[in-house]
This record gives sequence, C-alpha cells and structure tokens, in this order.
Amino acid sequence: MSRVKIKIDGREIEAEDWMTIMQAAQSAGIEIPHFCYHPALKVVATCRLCVVKIEGVPKLQTSCSTKVSDGMVVWTDTEEVRRARADALEFLLINHPLDCPQCEKAGECTLQDYVFKYGKPQSRFKEKKRDFGKRDISSKIKIRPNRCVLCTRCVRYAQDLLKTGGLCVVERGGKANITVYPENGFEGDYTLNVTTLCPVGALIAKDWAYRARPVYLKVAGSVCPLCSMGCNVFLDLKGIEPVRVRPRKNLKVNYYWLCDYGYLSYKSFALSEREIHALERKNFSLVRGIQEKVIQNLCDFIKNHSKEIGVCVSPFLTNEEIIAIKEFGSSMGINSFYFIPPEYVKEHENAWLLKAEKAPNMNGLRKILPSAKEISSAEEKIIAIFGWIMKDTSIPSRVEKIILVSNRIPENLKEKVEFFIPEAGWAEKFGSWTNFEGRVQWLTNAIEPVGESVRIIDFILFLSKALKVSLKFSSTEDLVKMVKEYFPEAEVEREIRDPVRKIGVR
Ligand code: SF4
Ligand code: SF4
Ligand code: FES
Repeated sequence: MSRVKIKIDGREIEAEDWMTIMQAAQSAGIEIPHFCYHPALKVVATCRLCVVKIEGVPKLQTSCSTKVSDGMVVWTDTEEVRRARADALEFLLINHPLDCPQCEKAGECTLQDYVFKYGKPQSRFKEKKRDFGKRDISSKIKIRPNRCVLCTRCVRYAQDLLKTGGLCVVERGGKANITVYPENGFEGDYTLNVTTLCPVGALIAKDWAYRARPVYLKVAGSVCPLCSMGCNVFLDLKGIEPVRVRPRKNLKVNYYWLCDYGYLSYKSFALSEREIHALERKNFSLVRGIQEKVIQNLCDFIKNHSKEIGVCVSPFLTNEEIIAIKEFGSSMGINSFYFIPPEYVKEHENAWLLKAEKAPNMNGLRKILPSAKEISSAEEKIIAIFGWIMKDTSIPSRVEKIILVSNRIPENLKEKVEFFIPEAGWAEKFGSWTNFEGRVQWLTNAIEPVGESVRIIDFILFLSKALKVSLKFSSTEDLVKMVKEYFPEAEVEREIRDPVRKIGVR
C-alpha cells in the first residue's frame, strides 16, 4: 500500500493507491452523486450517476469503479459531466411516478435531492408511465416498485452480506423490477436495513409508513438500548415522541446496520408505554400527587427508614446514573446494592449483531457495582429501584415496599409501590453505556424530560440536598469525569452533544 497524489477539481489530494476516485473524493469532502455505490457493498457501477472526467481519457468514467493513480487529474463538474448526470437522471424519471407529495421518503430522498441539484427542470416524456402496482416483500417491508431506481443495493445486501438472498431483479430493460424469491421470502432478524439502504421511497418499513414527514423530525445521536451490542443509532422525534430509529455509522460497532428489533426499539419508550406522573400510596391506593409534595414525602420516608432500605439498579441506567446512585447510597450508609438481571436469549449467542444479553449497560453496572447481587437475593423489606424495568420483573416476596424511580409500574409490583417517581426517557438524558466489549458510548438528551419525569442525576442531587447528604459530585459533568476513572479508555464524543438537528436541513 502506498500513497498517491491526485487532483480533483483543481485540489491536490493524497489518497491510498487502493482507493477509487469516489473514495478519494469522499475522504476529501468532495461530493460525487451516486446511487449504486455503497461503501459496504460490492461495486457494480450500473447507475452511471458518478461519472467524472479524467484528463487523458477520452470518455467519462464511473468514479465508483475507477482506481486512483499517481498524477491523475479528475474533474467532477464539467459541462460534459453535468450533461451526462442530467441525462442519467432524466432516464430514471421517465418511469418514476413523481409522487413526492405522498411518498414516505420525501424530504430525505436522494433522487429528490439530486434532481433538484443536478437534474433538468422539465420532463420531455409525454408517454404513459409503466406501472408495477404495489406489494409487500415481507411481513415488515412493502415495495413501491415504480419508485425504484434499480441501484440493486437491496439485492447485494441480501446476497453478499446476509447470504440468504431473497431479493432479485427480474425482467430486463424497462420491465426490470425488484422482487422476492417466492420459495424463501425475505424474512429474518436483519431485513429492515434494506429500507435505509434504499436511496428512494421504494422499500419502506411498514411500521414507518406515514408516521411522520421527515422534514418535521428532530434527530439525535444515540445508542440502541435493546442489547449489549450497543449499536449506534439516530433517534428521530416528532415533537416529544420518538417515532423512528435508524442506524448511525460506527465502523467499530455496527458499521451501517441494525437488527430489526433495534429499528423498532423506539416503541418500548413510546409515551403510551410510560407513566409520567409522580404517584404515592395513600389510603392503600397509589394516587397522583403534586410532584414536589410527593418528593418531599419520599424524603421524609427515606429519613425514617434509611437503615431498612436496599438499592436496586437497572442495567438500562447510564454509567453516570449508576455512579450517582452508588455515591448517594454509600453516603446514606446503604451498602446493599442489587441489580435487575437482563433477559438472556440463548439463540442470539452467536448472532451477527444481536447479543444474548438484552440490556445496554450490564457491563458498566458490573464494573461500577461489582458487588451488586441479583434482586432475587434482596433481604431488605424496602427496596428503591432505579431505572427502566421489564414488564415481568419480579422481586422476592419478603420485600414489602418499593420506591420506584422508573418509566413504568409493572402490574405485579403495583401493590408494593409506595412512591413512584417517573424517570426521564431514553431521549431525555445525557450519559453513557458500556457495551459488551467495554466500549463506552454516549446518548444525547434530545428533549427535556416529559411530564413530571426527572433525570435521575438531578433527582439524586435534589435528594442529597433535602437529606443533607454530601456527595463527591455536583453535576453530570463531574460524573462524566468519574466514568473516565472507571473506564480510562473512554473518549467523550463531543459531537454527540451538538444541538439536535432537523432532518430536513441537510
Ligand atoms: S428497491 Fe431501492 S435499494 Fe432496491 S434496487 Fe430499487 S432503489 Fe435500489
Ligand atoms: S443488535 Fe442489539 S444493540 Fe444492535 S440494534 Fe439490535 S438490539 Fe440494538
Ligand atoms: S455510483 Fe458509480 S455507477 Fe452508480
């Protein structure tokens, strides 16, 4: 391997000799439009959108399949290149329905962007457009073949990465279209990746169809909460409601992909699944109270029972939250820490992305609270449980009262809950999770806590003041520094803390 010097649009660029012109241009921040090229898939060079002019070569060349060589001079924006691109786009639009106003992809569609930027202002096509109708290709995905630009990304993903096949191009010329093998279909744990690979609105996750217009969404960088893999994700929010999860590229973790559970993970954190009001037990029933009053009553309760309380943490808490709870508990003289064991799915032990342990931060919890025992061994009569809790979480019958700081109250625990403080959701807090291989990854607080929910760190700081307990930290920033003491290799990814963006503004 050696470095070569090339010029693109007059800029001198150094590139590796194995790179294509497309890769060299992208590494220098120069955009070359493309449909069929994807860094994780085999090169097929079929869409012809990425053509460039190379000095000394008579015809335009596809930049996705042409390797760089020392001294090469490339132009990406000559009159000849612009005309070739516009012609390629005009061909694609001949049969494209141009139904952007009702297309799920409008606002984040590559074809829409390219036609706007590089296309011709008017169509010359007067004939009747071909019509393939609409159909489903699986239980989770529908196809609108009229919108397809035949980039074959979906086919190559199924064949080369999944190795299951399932998708193929049938027919030729103007009749060519994507279909599913009738004998094995397109089902599995990793099928929804084709919906984010598809550059247009041809492959659509049924779950996403017509949920929201992309231009109205806010997007935050985050991490999938459903297993210890810790795939990096974009979490899309419509107002305060998480409505979609998409893969966020991380070549050290999940590359460009998620499993199908990850795509649907936002559902577990939907507002309809959460209790967002502070509750306390009065006259044998759990009733809604004024948040400050409930917390004040809780402080009095803790003062009166501090020697009888055990503390239990969920593996869905962030490292910062676990450290805060540990510090607070220790300052209160509480030394019994427990954890809620995550679900373990044996079939996922050797899966591609999916990990068997179904929680994002069991690794962080083990490191910060190595002596914590499973909740089933709790001996105290009162347990304070912090963090997201599974619907079927059970606790020993000897526990009589529960202080629950969480998103929901499982039915089987309801009659023991003395106080319920709603916890800020996945998109409402900043912090880190440590994945199965010890990588510390960060979540963004995209929105303020919803309803009466509180961030656990703020809640602990409030309790410590009210109970006159001194702590070693006074902010999340202090806790981030303490995380680095537990995980010295951890790097705080500053970019994740950038203000939340809108998808439509790209
Ligand atoms: S369905 Fe989408 S990804 Fe598949 S070939 Fe058509 S445009 Fe490409
Ligand atoms: S593999 Fe695990 S972390 Fe990755 S998307 Fe799926 S459930 Fe989430
Ligand atoms: S991206 Fe190069 S031909 Fe399609």
